[in-house]
Amino acid sequence: MLVKGRSRRRATAAMALAAAVVVTAAGCARENAGVDPAKDSGIVHVVCGATEDWCAATTKKFTESTGVKADFVRLSSGEALARIKAGKGNAEFDVWYGGPADGYAAANTDGMLDAYVSPNAAVIPDKYKDPAGSWTGVYVGALGFCSNGKLLAEKGLEVPKSWADLLNPKLNREIGIAHPSTSGTAYTALWTQVQLAGGDQGKALEYMRKLHPNVLQYTKSGSAPGQMTARGEVTVGIIFSHDCVATMEEGFPDLKVSFPSEGTGYETGGVALVKGAKNPTSAKKFIDWALTTEAQEIGPTVKSYQFPTNPNAKVSDKVVKLSELTMVQYDAVAAGTAKSALNKRFDAEVAQAPKS
Ligand code: G6P
Repeated sequence: MLVKGRSRRRATAAMALAAAVVVTAAGCARENAGVDPAKDSGIVHVVCGATEDWCAATTKKFTESTGVKADFVRLSSGEALARIKAGKGNAEFDVWYGGPADGYAAANTDGMLDAYVSPNAAVIPDKYKDPAGSWTGVYVGALGFCSNGKLLAEKGLEVPKSWADLLNPKLNREIGIAHPSTSGTAYTALWTQVQLAGGDQGKALEYMRKLHPNVLQYTKSGSAPGQMTARGEVTVGIIFSHDCVATMEEGFPDLKVSFPSEGTGYETGGVALVKGAKNPTSAKKFIDWALTTEAQEIGPTVKSYQFPTNPNAKVSDKVVKLSELTMVQYDAVAAGTAKSALNKRFDAEVAQAPKS
C-alpha cells in the first residue's frame, strides 16, 4: 500500500510537473509573440525616473500583463540622460520611463531617442506628447512647496505662498531643493523662473542666486528635500507636490503643501524608445502598455499621485486639481532645448552640481 501510495504520489507529482511545463510553455509562447529572437531577447531594460516603488510596481505589472520580462534602474533625470548618452552605439537601456519631458526633449535634440508613435497614444491629449513620437506623456505633476509646520511656527512664519516668500531671511539655510543638472524636479523649478521672468534666463538665475543663501543643500534627486523637510533638517522643500503628499503618507502627516501665487511649473512625465534599443519589440510593447489605463492607475497604489495623461484612467482624489492652480506656460521642447546651457550657467553662477 505504501509503495502504491508512493507511486500514486509520484504519478500526481509527474502530472503536476507536466502541467507546470505546459503553463511555462504557454507563458513562453505569449512572451515570444511577435518577437524575433534574433532581434529581441523578450526583455525590456528600463531607465526609470519615477519613484523607486512606482518603477518596481510598473515593471512587475507589465510582465504580469504582457508576459514580457522587464527590469529597471531608477535614475534622476539628468543622470538618466547622461547614462543614455554614455550608451550611444551600445545602448544599455531600451526605454526611458518617467521624469519630466524636457529631459526627453533634450535627449531627442542629442539624437538619443527613436521616434515611436504608439497606437495607444491616440487617446493622449496633444499637449502631453511630441507629435513626432519622440516621447509620449504618462503623467502630469505640479511643482509646489512642502513645509514643516512645526518649524514654520517656531520661526513665526506662515506657509509660503509665493516664490518671493522663499527669499525671507528667516529661511536662511532652511530650504531644500535638488540641483537642476541632476534633477528634473529642480530643472522644472529653474525653468519656471525663466517663464516668470518672461523668458529672461539672466533674471531667472538672479532669482536662484537670491534664493541660494536660504538653500541648505542641493540634492541629487528631486524628491529628497521632501524627506529633509519631514525630518526637520529644513523648513521648506521645493518639490513636486505629489512627492510631499507621498512623504505625508509615509508617516509625516504634519507636512503642508502650498503653491506659489505668481505661478508654478509642471512636468509631463514621459516614456520613450531609446535609440539603438537592443530589444525594440519589447520596448514598444512597454510603451504601448504604459499608455493604458491599467498602467496609469498603478501610481496611487504606491503613493504616487500624479495626474494620468490617459483621460480614461481613474484619478485619485488625492491628485492635485491642476485647474485650480496658477500655472506658468511650460513648453517641454523649449525647456529641453535650453537645458544643457542653462544648467551650465546654473553651475557657474549659482552652485556646482553635487558630487556623487
Ligand atoms: C519623483 C516624482 C516624479 C518626477 C521625478 C523626477 O520621482 O514623483 O513625478 O518625475 O521625481 O525626478 P528627479 O530626481 O529627476 O527630480
